[in-house]
Amino acid sequence: MVVKAEPKLVTFKVNGQDITVPEGSTVLDACLSHGIEVPNLCFQPMMRPWGSCRICTVEILGRRGGLVESCAAQVREGMEVATHSPEALKSREFILQMYLIDHALDCPTCDKSGECYLQDNTYLHNVQVSPYNRPKLAQPYEHFSDVIDYKWDRCIICARCTRVCDEVIGVTAIEVDGRGLEASITPAWGMNLRDTTCISCGMCIAVCPVGAMTDRKFGAHPWELDATETICGFCDVGCTLNVEHNRGIVRRISHLWERGVNHGYTCERGKWGYQFVQNPERLEAAAIRRDGELQTVPLDEALDEAAARLSHYQGQQFAALASPENTNESNYLLQQFARAVMGSNNVDRTMTHNQAAVDRALADSFGFGASTNSVQEMFTDTGCALVVGPNIVETAPVASYWVNWARLYRETKDIVISRDHFVMCDRAQVWIKPPENGETAIINAIARVILDNKLLTPAENPPAGFQPWLDSLEDFAPEDVAKSTGVPLADIQRAAVLYATGGHEISDDPSGYGPSTIFSTLASQIGGDVYPAELALHNLALLTGNIGRAGGGVIAFRGPANFQGSTDAGCHPALLPGYQARNDADARRKFAAAWLPRWNDAVVPQNGFKRPQSLPDAPGLGCEEIIEAIADGRIKALYLAFGSQPTNYGFDARLLEVLPKLELLIVEDIYPSPLTELAHIVLPAAMFLEEDGSFTNADRTVQRVRFTLPAPGAAQPAWRLIQGIAQRLGYNLDHRHPSQIMEEMARLMPIYQGVSYPRLERGSLEWPVKSFGTEPSLYLSLGDDLAPESLKFVVS
Ligand code: FES
Repeated sequence: MVVKAEPKLVTFKVNGQDITVPEGSTVLDACLSHGIEVPNLCFQPMMRPWGSCRICTVEILGRRGGLVESCAAQVREGMEVATHSPEALKSREFILQMYLIDHALDCPTCDKSGECYLQDNTYLHNVQVSPYNRPKLAQPYEHFSDVIDYKWDRCIICARCTRVCDEVIGVTAIEVDGRGLEASITPAWGMNLRDTTCISCGMCIAVCPVGAMTDRKFGAHPWELDATETICGFCDVGCTLNVEHNRGIVRRISHLWERGVNHGYTCERGKWGYQFVQNPERLEAAAIRRDGELQTVPLDEALDEAAARLSHYQGQQFAALASPENTNESNYLLQQFARAVMGSNNVDRTMTHNQAAVDRALADSFGFGASTNSVQEMFTDTGCALVVGPNIVETAPVASYWVNWARLYRETKDIVISRDHFVMCDRAQVWIKPPENGETAIINAIARVILDNKLLTPAENPPAGFQPWLDSLEDFAPEDVAKSTGVPLADIQRAAVLYATGGHEISDDPSGYGPSTIFSTLASQIGGDVYPAELALHNLALLTGNIGRAGGGVIAFRGPANFQGSTDAGCHPALLPGYQARNDADARRKFAAAWLPRWNDAVVPQNGFKRPQSLPDAPGLGCEEIIEAIADGRIKALYLAFGSQPTNYGFDARLLEVLPKLELLIVEDIYPSPLTELAHIVLPAAMFLEEDGSFTNADRTVQRVRFTLPAPGAAQPAWRLIQGIAQRLGYNLDHRHPSQIMEEMARLMPIYQGVSYPRLERGSLEWPVKSFGTEPSLYLSLGDDLAPESLKFVVS
């Protein structure tokens, strides 16, 4: 791991108190980080100082012209600052009086009332009237879109909204139009917002310090609401959400700035996706198919029926497919049920062909189906981002924010290889648009340019498979690839230089090259087979020494919120929890010792059901093999967990063709769906806002999911459903809370050994979490912990 130099520190005085902060800090940063309140309006964490509102004015003592904007003034050694000197207070009062000349003062009906920075500051500074009386200017309200209203006469033109749209989100869909008293916020180029590049993330509303940008879906007062901090369930970036609710209804998602992997920022799904949770269409009741029709039944009856019928299908004729949107704890119990109760290793995740391909490619290259680095390294180390696959602004939106942020604030270089044309393509140094299935050739041609031009330091002991892979590159001469794909040769060459050098230009000393991170969204590609392209990316990272390096590596977004966690938890035919091989007798013995003593002798087995005396050692079938085995009649009973809803990532379409062949199909779902229509037994499941648990995101960050609302009707967290069936078969799964399941996972899975709920309450943990006593580094690279022999160049 790279050891970074400690930043230089400077010491100065605030209100007579000595404060030491890193050099380059602003006075406002220094004060806020030491709990000293300084009012501010146009300041927004993570964005550069704007210095327009001047509410943050403080006085630097002993200096002529000592009144400065604290958000823009840098701390100097020995400086003395007074935040509440008479001069500073007088200046802030004057500024507030100016704001009030035209501000609407409709506070009683403003939905920002109670959390408006202008309201707070006029109160704090006791500004009751403005001496600058004249008739107020006014303009009509504007509906920018279905979710955003703009109210001009409340706007203070602090430009937080336009800056966040440009500098963080990277779309520049709104702008400041006009100057002085006439200035207003408008959609870019005066267009309808729907026709701009707006992605409806709602961040303009989130950062507005007054009630100018408002949420059309919000209809409550902030003081009426309770808040629960939890993790978003809509993609595997793993954003922290502040869910505000009352009377069992979510009213809005608000933002905990500088918290979580998203630092408070969210996307459209994070901001408004709660409507998919509290939707009247949700599946609320269990059902059993009788006489060809699904009949609603009490949940207990459905669980009784599921247990009775499953008892006929032990061993290889049973399979389970886990939902990658369920929690770690639910998925751990499902695979435990498949192995310890049903005696089958036929357990995998419900996924698409391309999700399976990317998962396999990660495991083939790195030994783990996991990303190697943290997205957070964009803030500190990465010199170049290579973004490959479908539009990352849609598939992993908040990760795309950080690529954009790093380009603006750290001057990282971006390369995009995508068939989609989205905003990042136009801002990147290089955008390569491959033809269908052209990604592999282009990535391999980039590797050829790097090798041919010696843009690297040759590794003394390259990982296994280097020579066969090198030989395979003979077929990818850059000139030939440029001709066959229609991509300009110069773009391939430029991409190779930027990636190999970490965003630098060529120099004589490759040891000075910076790290480059690959962001892959190939798992979301529709059609084709992305396995060779994903492998080519891994080979590129290995070739350039970007594995095991902070700011390097490969981060693969696979879509569903807990795809990574469902793999970690053992929903994999060849892997027990924590990537311990099914065919490792010691690992099997360890899990058998923990799982098999749970049989309850008081329950008499029915229907010839046999209690397994050991864990199955027969190879299991993966998702695609399960589909084939259902088609040819080898698998007769399937427990299928899925989270059917409008924002999810789909499943292998062949499933729908083969499911009617099953003798028993149990579907656990959250909405009525084509899957539930085929089921013999339907079990209603809770969604992420309705349960406790944990998710593990695309860069291996384990985070706490918290109960916010009761699930509708009879719906239950998935782990309770599995427990209910297991208990009826005499297997004593009797956890009362998911924290108990996590205790067992941490005990049996070395990569989770330091994970516990008390620790997760304090913050997220990136696996491998090694010990209880040490806080792991957020920037830990998986490559540091990999034995070199687990890294491989793989020829597809
Ligand atoms: Fe400093 Fe606005 S917060 S000028």
